[in-house]
Amino acid sequence: MQLSTASWPEVEAYLARSRGIVIPIGSHEQHGPNGLIGTDAICPEVIAQEAGDEDGFLVGPTFNVGQAQHHLGFPGTVTLRPSTMIAALQDWIGSFTRHGFQRLYFFNGHGGNTATINAAFSEAYAPWSLRGEPAPFACALQNWWELKGVGEACRKIFPAGEGSHATPSEVSVTYYRYPAFRKDVAMSPKVAPTGLIRDAADYRRRFADGRIGSDPSQASAAAGAEIVTVAKAALIADVRRFFGENE
Ligand code: NI
Repeated sequence: MQLSTASWPEVEAYLARSRGIVIPIGSHEQHGPNGLIGTDAICPEVIAQEAGDEDGFLVGPTFNVGQAQHHLGFPGTVTLRPSTMIAALQDWIGSFTRHGFQRLYFFNGHGGNTATINAAFSEAYAPWSLRGEPAPFACALQNWWELKGVGEACRKIFPAGEGSHATPSEVSVTYYRYPAFRKDVAMSPKVAPTGLIRDAADYRRRFADGRIGSDPSQASAAAGAEIVTVAKAALIADVRRFFGENE
């Protein structure tokens, strides 16, 4: 079930049986020469939507722009400042909790978002902590590639050249979802260099085509389908655990 295609009476009926929602959260940033700009938003979105359709939990709109300032040296990248993202997440969290959602599961597609999402959670809990009252909601953060079994599945499919940015695994998930947008691009070197991440200009100088440590020319829709199957099952189990937790 997706919030975007539900009516308000359907959401009201859902709240009578569940107080949990899964919110995909990602980024719009360069993903190397053959990766889609929306990769980090698309990956959690497709896994969450397929899992939600199968298990019946509600999936919110994708928070699809995040912490991507180090990718701004490449056209198409969009970023929020940490302070902007923390403020926006307060309004998302406040909107959901105002209607009675008590379990907010943020399903993340971008490693650069994690520190800011955790800071946003702290900001959301702060008024309750400072008043000495229990917060009537709990937030969870889960990166899709860290779900149980997903890392192992990705390493098995791509034993070499997985890397850490513009990985063949994440590009495969987007090709599974959007096969018409597959791009065949020659890359040199075959496996990209690794190194530190600093500001946007430094990033472009170190990683000329945007990749870090990866060879996404291996990406395929078939590999993406395999990865989504593993991730979907693991997400359903983890969401059930979080929604069912005791207060
Ligand atoms: Ni990515």
